Formats: sequence, C-alpha cells, structure tokens
Amino acid sequence: MCGIVAYIGKKQAYPIILKGLKRLEYRGYDSAGIALLNNNKVNIYKKQGKVSNLEEYANTLDTSGNIGIGHTRWATHGLPNDINSHPHFSNDGKLALIHNGIIENYDVLKKELINRGYKFVSETDTEVLVHLIDDILKNERISLAEAVRLALNEVTGAYAIVVLSQDNPDQLVAARKSSPLVVGIGSDNEFFLASDATPIVEYTKQVVYLNDEEIAVVDINEGLKIVHLSNQEKTPYIQELELHLEALEKGGFEHFMLKEIYEQPRSIHDCFRGRLNAEEGWVALGGIKDYEQKLINANRIIMVACGTSWHACQVGEYLIEDLARINVEVEYASEFRYRNPIINENDVVIAVSQSGETADTLAALELAKHKGATILGICNVVGSSISRITDAGSYTHAGPEIGVASTKAFTAQVTILTLMALKLAHKKGTISESRFHTILSDLEAIPDKVKKILESDDKIKEIAEVYKDSQNALYLGRGSSFPVALEGALKLKEISYIHAEGYPAAEMKHGPIALIDEEMPVFVIATKGNSYEKVVSNIQEVKARKGKIIAIVTEGDVQVKELADHVIEIPDTDENLVPLLATVPLQLISYHIAVMRDCNVDQPRNLAKSVTVE
Ligand code: F6R
Repeated sequence: MCGIVAYIGKKQAYPIILKGLKRLEYRGYDSAGIALLNNNKVNIYKKQGKVSNLEEYANTLDTSGNIGIGHTRWATHGLPNDINSHPHFSNDGKLALIHNGIIENYDVLKKELINRGYKFVSETDTEVLVHLIDDILKNERISLAEAVRLALNEVTGAYAIVVLSQDNPDQLVAARKSSPLVVGIGSDNEFFLASDATPIVEYTKQVVYLNDEEIAVVDINEGLKIVHLSNQEKTPYIQELELHLEALEKGGFEHFMLKEIYEQPRSIHDCFRGRLNAEEGWVALGGIKDYEQKLINANRIIMVACGTSWHACQVGEYLIEDLARINVEVEYASEFRYRNPIINENDVVIAVSQSGETADTLAALELAKHKGATILGICNVVGSSISRITDAGSYTHAGPEIGVASTKAFTAQVTILTLMALKLAHKKGTISESRFHTILSDLEAIPDKVKKILESDDKIKEIAEVYKDSQNALYLGRGSSFPVALEGALKLKEISYIHAEGYPAAEMKHGPIALIDEEMPVFVIATKGNSYEKVVSNIQEVKARKGKIIAIVTEGDVQVKELADHVIEIPDTDENLVPLLATVPLQLISYHIAVMRDCNVDQPRNLAKSVTVE
C-alpha cells in the first residue's frame, strides 16, 4: 500500500524514479508525486491519479537533478487529490518527505505543531512527519539523520519514509517500521531506495533489506550507514537479488493478470520442484524440516491470512485435517488479533501471504509469537517482513505477481499446503503408502493439466460473453471446493465490480436460494468425488428456480452436462488436488468478464496489492 522510490547518484533521478513508480503502481494508484533537488532547490511535481498523469504533467517541466524521491499513493487520510499527494514538504520548502504507512498519533502531533506556528496544507497524517523533523532541525544543531531519529521516536504507527533536504544535497535519509524498505547499492556510491526490489533490479542486484526501527543514510561521499532508532549503529547485511527483469514485464500478454494466470503451469512446477519426487516416493519442505515434529504434535495449527491467501488456508485446512489428522483453524488475521485469542506454546501459527507485508497478518503473527506459539510463514516475496519475523517457513517461488488480483500466488500457496499435508501425513502415518504415491503422482501431473485447461480459454471466453452484463453471481462448492467458490466470487467482484458470493453448495437452501431467478448465473464446482451426487441435487434446486448453471466438471462427465447451461471440463485428479485445477477456469472467466466490461483488470478501483495498513 503506497509505493516509495528514491535515487541518489550521478544519473538523472527523474527517469529512474518515474520508471520505479510505474513498477510500484500496483501498491496504489490514487496519486503520484516526485521531488527533485536541482540547483540547490527542491522542486515538487504531484498529480492525482495514475503515474501516467504525473508523467504527462512533469514532462512539460524541467525535471533535472541527481537526487530525488517519488511516491504512488493508496489514500488513507484525506481525499486522493493533488494536495494530499506525496511528497509533503516543510513550510520553507527545504525538506520533502514520502511515506508508506500510517502515523497513529498524528492528531496530537499536528495540534502541537500548529501551536508552534506550523501551517498544514494537506489532510494527511504524513505531513506531521515533515514538520516534526523540520521543527527538531530548527531547534537543535544536529544532522538530518539525527533529527529523523528523534522525530521517529515521537511517532507511533507504521512507516517507510525517505527524506530529501535542500541543506543536505549529498544524502537521503530513510527509515522503516512495519512497512517495507529496500536499499539498492549501485556502483560509485549510487543508491536506490524502494518499497520492494522491482524498481531496483535493473540497476543493481546488491540490496539491503532494512529491519524495523532502522534508519538508513545514503550519502554520495560516505556511502551507506544504518542506525537503530535507539542510536545503535548497525552493520548493513548485503544480499544478492534473485529477481529477473523479464518477470516484471507483460511478455506479450495484454494484462499482467492474464500473464500470471498463464504462468501457473510453470509457477506450480517451480513451487514443488526439488520438494517432491513421485517415483522415489518422497516429499520435503526444507524450510520447515526442523518443525515437522512440532507440527505433528501441535495442539492446533492456526493459519492466519487475508483475502485470497485466506482462501488458500481454507483449502489447507481440508487437506491437513483430512490427510494428517491434525486440528487446523483458519482465522482472518484482522479478527484474530483483536479478539484476545487463546494461544499457547503447543500451537503453531502459520501466516500465509503473497506479499509477506500484509499489516494484519504481520500483527497477528507478532501476537502469536508474544504468546509463545511457534510461528511459520508461507510467502511469495523473498526477504519480506513475514519471512523475516517467522521462526521458519517456505517460499512459494511463484515469481513476482503484479496484477492486483491474486492468481498464481493462490495456486502456489495451495501447492505448498498440499506438500505440507502430505509430508505430515506420511511422517505421522495417517496416509497409506498407496494413497501417498497416488497423490504425489497426481501433484506432479498438475502443471500439464493446468496447461490443458488453459487450452479451453476460447470456450471460457464465450461463456464470459453470455454473463458479462450480470448484476450478481453465485459460486457453489463443497469440501475443499468451497474455498474455491469463495475465491471465484472474490476474483469476479474485485476486477469486474459484479456482486458475487461464494457458498458451501448445501448452504444455498438456507437463504441464498431466494436470490435465484433466470438472471442469476450460478457457478458450481461439480467434479467427481465424495459429494458429487449431493452437488448434482443442489444443481437441480437451482435449475428448478430457472437459475443459469455454469459447472466445472471432471472430463467425461455425463450427468451434470445434461443439467447445466454450460460446462467447463477439467482433467481428472485426486479429489484433494481439485482446487489447483478448478480455480483456473474461474480466474479466466473473471478476467474475460472484466475486460469485456472495460474494467482496469490489473489495477481495480480502490484496491492495492500490498495492504500495509490495518
Ligand atoms: C485478492 C487479493 C487480496 C490478497 C490479500 C492478502 O485478489 O489479492 O485479497 O490476497 O490482500 O495479501 P497477501 O497475500 O499479500 O497477504
């Protein structure tokens, strides 16, 4: 939520920052702004809306300068307009600051600063930071970095900030707490700062991920220095980026979302590569190896997550309970942390998160850690906050997910949870050898089966054409297909703005059935398995009320085909692996409907990808 990027070095800062903002736009697109230091003056350029608006505006102006900061905003405090856009600046215009996060005590600080004569121009919480730093600098003869440190000691909340100062033309000062910040180290004392590594990767692979409560000073003459808020100096830990530039491009696809849907045969394969071998009959998750026995003996496994990741956890609950017979509870991270949950040392709490930065998920983990539970993580973004605070964990290796609507991250999360369920079940002895081998072989075959589903894209597009003008939609599934129904509904509503709900198929008759008429498309996951006959009955109930049925069925199905208005066939697989296949046509349906409705598929309204506010 909100993307920040900054540059200091010998090159022109503006093109580097502008390109970086485009890469970070998935984090928010309510407004964008840049501040550049040129000829001993801070010049600020800000525009409501997308980075392209800012570009159109700034391209007509002088954008010279070798030092600058940029921001793309997801509005929290104050409307998305030019004035509330970052960078915010001091009353004398000498300091400029960008911020990702929320300053919780901004109201108190603002009143104090107003009493001391400071004028506020925006409605944001961020503006207090720049006036606070300015106030400290004016009253004490200290460095910019020390003023930032003292100011941050007065602040409660979350922040990643970068400060640029006219009086310090050779340096930028940055800091983080609960919002991510990466420092890229280029050649010749050239530095990049960003919310994630995507704006940095084409210039350098050497990065330092700042830890909470650390302040980084990047100086053209003196290099990188890191101090803790407590004033203790830290040694920078330099890491090599594994990210590749091609992963950040659309690669010929019209949208990132479509590219990411089509990447799933590869991303699922990358996720289990080296972690399973059906022929030799083993599965291993190196990252959590030392915690396998702890998981098996756990009183409960509690999974915390938000949104799509929460749906992946729901699938995980079915798998781990069914195969490994361990008690699993799935919690919305935001609810978990506020209801004084009962957690103890025998619980294992697993956070599942694509970004690894979701504020509620992070806070839930911190709470669980505080109460003595073992905390594990399943994340996609390497080096993310969740991956760093957990005792251990597994990366999903899905590659960067840029489309705001999550697709390949979901199937990768489900893959990891499947591997985990299989590993625990095998070690605990709750799965027969033959079943274990069957599921392993079926899992290895999933990437090819996803490829096959993608070949039906034209047919899926035709179905999308029929339902693109719907006002509402229902999604039904049973067992582990119920979270798939939830995920299908979320995908449709978030990118096409059609109201959609997911239900366990049998729950329909307890209320939602009242909504069904000839206008209502009902998507049903009706693949072969234990509850097939029951789902067929639910389809009959919808048909009797003239609802339109779009069914996801197993290849060769006869019974549902006769009832449904449309069927999409998916290859046969073990029942536990159906979510990995059934999700894909639902992603495609949502994608095509959104495109047909002229919606911004990659950047749906009001959303941002990495939700770093609570
Ligand atoms: C939906 C979507 C969101 C995220 C949620 C959690 O398509 O992307 O619902 O799943 O914000 O994000 P992560 O997984 O980064 O914690």
